[in-house]
Order: sequence, then C-alpha cells, then structure tokens
Amino acid sequence: MSQPTIESILKEKRTFKPSPEFAHQATISSWEQYQELYQQASDNPTEFWAQLAESELEWFEKWDQVLDWSNPPFAKWFVNGKINISHNCLDRHLTTWRRNKAAIIWEGEPGDSRTLTYAQLHREVCQMANVIKQLGVKKGDRVAIYMPMIPESAIAMLACARIGAVHSVVFGGFSAEALRDRINAAEAKLVITADGGFRKDKTIALKSQVDLAIADNKAPSVDNVLVVERTKEKVQMEAGRDHWWHDLQAGASAHCPAEPMDSEDMLFVLYTSGSTGKPKGVVHTTGGYNLYAHITSKWIFDLKDDDVYWCTADVGWITGHSYIVYGPLSNGATTVMYEGVPRPSNPGCFWDVVEKYGVNIFYTAPTAIRAFIKMGEHHPNARDLSSLRLLGTVGEPINPEAWMWYHKVIGKEKCPIVDTWWQTETGGVMITALPGATPTKPGSATHPFPGIMADIVDLEGNPVGANEGGYLVVKHPWPGMMRTVYGDPDRFCRTYWEHIPPKNGNYLYFAGDGARRDEDGYFWVMGRVDDVINVSGHRLGSMEVESALVSHPAVAEAAVVGKPDDVKGEEICAFVTLEGGFEANEDLANQLKAHVVQEIGAIARPGEIRFTDGMPKTRSGKIMRRLLRSLASGQEIAGDTSTLEDRSVLDKLREGA
Ligand code: PRX
Repeated sequence: MSQPTIESILKEKRTFKPSPEFAHQATISSWEQYQELYQQASDNPTEFWAQLAESELEWFEKWDQVLDWSNPPFAKWFVNGKINISHNCLDRHLTTWRRNKAAIIWEGEPGDSRTLTYAQLHREVCQMANVIKQLGVKKGDRVAIYMPMIPESAIAMLACARIGAVHSVVFGGFSAEALRDRINAAEAKLVITADGGFRKDKTIALKSQVDLAIADNKAPSVDNVLVVERTKEKVQMEAGRDHWWHDLQAGASAHCPAEPMDSEDMLFVLYTSGSTGKPKGVVHTTGGYNLYAHITSKWIFDLKDDDVYWCTADVGWITGHSYIVYGPLSNGATTVMYEGVPRPSNPGCFWDVVEKYGVNIFYTAPTAIRAFIKMGEHHPNARDLSSLRLLGTVGEPINPEAWMWYHKVIGKEKCPIVDTWWQTETGGVMITALPGATPTKPGSATHPFPGIMADIVDLEGNPVGANEGGYLVVKHPWPGMMRTVYGDPDRFCRTYWEHIPPKNGNYLYFAGDGARRDEDGYFWVMGRVDDVINVSGHRLGSMEVESALVSHPAVAEAAVVGKPDDVKGEEICAFVTLEGGFEANEDLANQLKAHVVQEIGAIARPGEIRFTDGMPKTRSGKIMRRLLRSLASGQEIAGDTSTLEDRSVLDKLREGA
C-alpha cells in the first residue's frame, strides 16, 4: 500500500539569477562550481569535510578518523582531534591584520553603542574565562546564560568555550519558570545574567527572574550568579552567591590560554521546544560544529573582509549561536549585534542600523519581513540602504509575496536572497542558495549545501517523484548535526531517526518538515508535517495555502489549520491579519476564499476565515498552529504554552470565536 505523502499545490514560476557583478566577486561564483562541489562532496564526504577542516580551522592536534558512524545515529566527527572554537574565533586572528578589525559592532536600544576589535574581544573573553574559573566552573560544567543582546552575551559564550564549560543560553524573554526548568535540566553551576535589558522602550528585569528561578533551593545546582550591569536598575545581590561582572573583571587577568578540547567534547546545549512534550536539550559538540558554522557562514553569506554583516536574531536561538557569534567570528568577520526590535516609537530602527553602519549583508526572519510590510515601505524608503549587497531569511517558509517585497523594497532588485532552511538540530544551514551561484525562486530554499544529502521520501523511506510532497530527510551525517538529546539518548533516537526507518541500512534523519522538489530539483519546504491538513483525503501543507492568502493585497499574515468536518475529514480554517486600510467583513472573507480557489484550486478553499489582529507566536516568531487548531475546533488549549510571546493574543482570539 502506498504511504500517505503531502500534495503540492503551489506553482511559483519566477526565477532570479545572480547578477554578473555579484557572481563575479563571489566565493562560489557559478552554478557549475556549486555542482562540482556538490558532486565532490557526495562522492567522498569524508574527504570533502576533512579537506575543509584542514584548510579552514586551526587544530591543536589532528584527528585519527574523520567520521565514526559505527554506532548510528550517534556520530563522531574528527575523532581524537583537539581544537578550541574560542581560539578559532579569536586568537588566530590576532596574529594577522584583523587584530584591530571590528569583531562586534553593538548598538543598544536607547542609542548607545560599542565596537570591540578582535584584540579587545579576546581580552574580555579571557578575563571572563578567568572569572568563571575563579567561581569554580571547570571543564565539562554547565553554565546558563540569560542575557539581553549585549556584547557580554557573546563574551560569556566564548569564555565558556575557552575553558571547556558547556553553555546553555536561555532566551532573555523566557520566564523564571522556563529558566528554572532549563537550569535544572542541565544542572548548571553558574548563571550569567544582567541586571536587565532594554526592549520596546521598557526595561526587562533579568536578575529578578534569576532570583525567582533559583529561590528556595529550587535550582540547587547553582552556586554563583554573575551579573553584568546594563540598565543600572536596582537589583538584589545575595552576598557570596551574586557577583558583579565589573567588580570581578577589574581584578581578572587577560591571559587565559584556550583549553585544548576533544573534537567531540560538548560545546553547548540549547533547549528547543517541540510542539509537544518538554523542551529537548539539543547537544552540539566542538570540532564538527565549528567547521559547519564556519563554512556555511563563509559560502552562504559570501563573507568578505570588508563586509559588515548583520543577523537580527537573538543569541538565545541557534541562529544567534551559529550566525551572530561562532560562524562570523570564526571567519574573522565584523558582526553586528542590535539590542532593539522594531517598535512603535521607531518602526524603522532596523534601517537606521543598516544606514549607520553601512551593513552589507542582512539576515532576518519571514515574520520580521511580514511585520515590515505591515508597517509600510516608507520606513525603509526614508533610509539609505545602498550598502546592502546580500539578504537572507530563516525560520519559516517565506511566502513568495513577502519574498518579492524583500527583493524590491529592501534589496532594490539587486541583492540576491538566500532563503536558508535549517534547524536547531542541524547546527547550521542545510538547504540554501549560494548567492553567486544559484538562481533563486521566491519561496524555495533551492538546493542542499555541498555535503548535505537531502532527499524527499515517503514514510517507508522511498524517494518520491518530482513535485510530489513528502518527508524531508538527510541521508548522510554532517559535521554540524546534533549529537544527542542532553541526558536522553533514547529520545534522540525516537524523535529524529525512527519515524522513517533506515533504508538499506542507511539511517535517515527526519526532523518533521514536509517538502517537495520541483522539476528543476528545487526544494520547497511546505511546513511541519504536524501542521498538514487532510481535506477529503488530500494532504495539504500549511505554507502553500497561506502563501495564496498572503498574495491577496488585503492580507498581511495568514495561518491555516485543519478543523474536523463530517464530510471532508478536515476543512481549512484560515486565520488572517489584514493590511492597514482594509475592513474585516463577510464580503472580504468571501473574496479571500475565491482568491485561494483561483490561486490553487477548489480543494484548498477555506471553509472559514477568521480575522484577527495578531497571531499566537513563539518568542522566536513562529506561528503556533497547534493553538490555532484547538481554537478552530473549539477545544480547550492543551500542552505547553510557556513559549508563547503574547498571551493576550490568545485571549482575544478566544473572545472573537
Ligand atoms: O520547519 C522548519 C522551519 O523552522 C524549523 C526549525 O526551527 P528552529 O529549530 O527553531 O530553527 C530556526 C532557525 C534555524 C524547521 O524545521 N524553518 C526554518 N527555516 C526555514 C524553515 N522552513 C522553511 N524555510 C526555511 N528557510
């Protein structure tokens, strides 16, 4: 019996080639070069990765074996190699002209700013490394980092890496309870935090959340708390436990050699919440992660020494780990960190930062792009964005119309767009255009990175045909892959390696996305398979119906979910936010239904349209369709809602029902 796959209904035909000027200067500069690299890597992956590890990174001792895959799905890369990622991000640049190059350009929300050269960053990292050693942290110990977007968050990560402590960064927007769970899960000995941070013209208190998290011995592993001064608001400091960073820094030596780490020593754990169950501690190790973050940054963002590169993520997410801190710094690049987010008092603040620092490469999320569209193009149009040469997106499928807006209004039709598909688990980007080589199609992440053997299969692991939807899998290990779930190896096997059984003895990595490949071999990610809607036996991915809705001029954002239906099994319920100037009424709802029918056919016609002012999103900007599903079918909302950004959205949606 054939296994259910996912039907594809979106047909996007526009194609954009890299301009000759861009291609000419790019590191990977033609489609032929990409294909050659891809072929080389597929023919002999270990040789491909070994050559890059040798030429791109500094090792204290070379490995004995490139890949040990004798115990799948547990991979080991660069076995017995000795390396330190903080050395590769800092020390090795100090013996070159980059010593006095800007490593981090930081802009605070209130308008203060700071630039750290590689030499200055190295100095502060060494000092913090000595301070945390003095606070009893040893190689292998876990350290929780709960910080605003200030340079000290990167300094803390690099300081841990320098002495071999494992960091667990917890996004500063998480509550005390969420922080406590993550501290306890990793048994962190030290918490590095700040008095607070600035967000949307207010301060957020971080230290008091730490106090709540560890009060009454509820996080018994924590011996010390290191506090960076940021907002200067009053905080409680418990003698013997809490320490100001500036006090300890004053007496700290700036000499701290990087600890030679085994390639497979744990570098960090990062908790990611699935749609159900408690958060998983995704474990990344040292050597393979360093190489993968490094080479993907270099080729995908086409990093050049005079570039100013800005990824707008928060260091609390994997994007911040790999593409604000480790990837760019390993390449000796200049990376921008911005504390603020677009807010009513300054909707154009991102464009101010681009203009002020002459940002060349800009990497953000589709949710941000949809918000920019809603705020209006007069904000970017009022700034000088001529420095931009390359744009990127990450986090969700980007609707073709949002892609076109990004291309026209921000990129002025001259910047390639790299739509990068990846996950916390993959450590770095897996499917993406290489900007000087790959013709792009709006809404497609295009092709796998060299060395990534991605495929689309049915539930038995058989490849599906062109334009047939299926399950996105990776067929061969790669250096940046997660190694396990912290403290729960069985969960690692269950979650990622067992839904689709090994095929001819080959393990297939599957982390939950549906996709199709078109007739030209382009990958189109269709959303999480948990979000697939089954209408009369047709399995539809959420992304394609949403893209059809967003292509209507009235629609700013759309999320579709399935709602039980006696006849069809499920019918589509669409939640829609409108652009300014449009009125939510039945007439518009009918127009939108007709629009979807026209764009993709009667099968995708929404049974119901619900207008809303906002969507329930995670703090990293992903729409929580699981909650919308409960609302649409009139059920109580069950499961974890701790990652929800704004609870009032949910209350409003309930009232509107
Ligand atoms: O569903 C895919 C979606 O985000 C998921 C991974 O989320 P997270 O671990 O939080 O990492 C986000 C940053 C890497 C994926 O399983 N996703 C991410 N990027 C894309 C995407 N879906 C489509 N296109 C993308 N470019």
